[in-house]
Amino acid sequence: MEVLLWILAALLPSVCLGVTFDEDFVDATTVQEERECHGTSVGFGYSGTLELHYQQLRKRYVGCTYVHGNLEITNLDDSVLTYELDFLDSIKYVSGYVLIGLSTQVERIPLMSLEVIRGNHTYRIQGEEYALVVALTSRDTTPVMGLRHLHMPKLKEISRGKVMFSQNPLLSHMGTVAWDIITRGRPDSMYLSDEKAFSFKDEVCPVVCKVDEDLSLCWGEEPNLCQDVVVGYCNETCGWRCYGPEADNCCHPDCAVGCTGPGPQECLVCKDYMLDEECVGYCPAKTYPKMQTCVRF
Ligand SMILES: *[C@@H]1O[C@H](CO)[C@@H](O)[C@H](O)[C@H]1NC(C)=O
Ligand SMILES: *[C@@H]1O[C@H](CO)[C@@H](O)[C@H](O)[C@H]1NC(C)=O
Repeated sequence: MEVLLWILAALLPSVCLGVTFDEDFVDATTVQEERECHGTSVGFGYSGTLELHYQQLRKRYVGCTYVHGNLEITNLDDSVLTYELDFLDSIKYVSGYVLIGLSTQVERIPLMSLEVIRGNHTYRIQGEEYALVVALTSRDTTPVMGLRHLHMPKLKEISRGKVMFSQNPLLSHMGTVAWDIITRGRPDSMYLSDEKAFSFKDEVCPVVCKVDEDLSLCWGEEPNLCQDVVVGYCNETCGWRCYGPEADNCCHPDCAVGCTGPGPQECLVCKDYMLDEECVGYCPAKTYPKMQTCVRF
C-alpha cells in the first residue's frame, strides 16, 4: 500500500514522501526462539567491579527478545576490558525505558532488532520523563574514545516518554533519523543538552536509504542501517498511527507502530499484550503476561 507521509522531524526540514507499509515483521512464519528477561532499575549505578557488572549485563540479556522492565546499558568504562555487545542484538521490545550511559569504552551499541520502547516506566530527570536517554559516552573534553554508533534501524516506536541526548560528542548519524515518526509526533519529545549532545557533523546515508529527492534516513553508513519507516500520512487526530488519511482511520489505542484497520486485532505490533489475536492494555483475570502475550492459566 503506497501512502503519503509528512515528516515534521525535530532535526529535519518538512518534507512529503512516499513510503510503503512494511509488514515483514508481522510475518509469523519467521520462527525465532523467544525469551523474556527482566530489566533493571538502578540508573547509572552498579555494584561490584566493572568487570562483574559487564558479565552480569551479558548474562541477563543473552538471547533475550522481550525486556520486561528497563534496559540499562551503563558503566562500560574499563579500558582494559574488551566489550562484546552483540548479545543485545536479539532484543525486540523493552516495556520500560532504555538508558545508555557512562559507557566510554565502547564504540558501537548494536540494538539491531529493537522495534518498540514502550516507556511504561520512564527515567525521570528534572521532572521530565524519558524513555530513551543516551548520555556521557565520552570522557575527555577532546575525545578520541567513546560511543560512535548507536544502531537501532528497526526502532519504530517510543510509545511514551521523551528522548534525551547529552554529552555524546562522537556519536554519529543521530541527525539523519526522523525521531518524530518514532515518538509519534509528540511535541517537545527531543531534548538535546548542547552542541555535544551528539556529533552534529554533516553525515550522509547510504543511497538505498533515500526516501525522497532530498531526504535520506539512516542510523549509519551501512545499507542495513536505513531507518525502517512505517507511518502513513495521518489526520492530526490520529497521533501519527493510522491506516488511511481520514480522521476516522486511526489505529486502535492499544496498537504500536501502525495498523491495517481500526480494530485491536489489526495492529502491526501490540503496545502491551496480545490476547486471542487482539491487542489489550493489560492481561485480564485468569491470564498472566508472558512475552507480551496473555497466557491462560
Ligand atoms: C482531519 O480531520 C478533520 C475532521 O474530519 C478535518 O476537519 C480536517 O480537515 C482533517 N485534517 C486534514 C489535514 O486533513
Ligand atoms: C505497565 O505497568 C503496569 C503498572 O505497573 C503493569 O500492570 C503493566 O503490566 C505494565 N505493562 C507492561 C507492558 O509492562
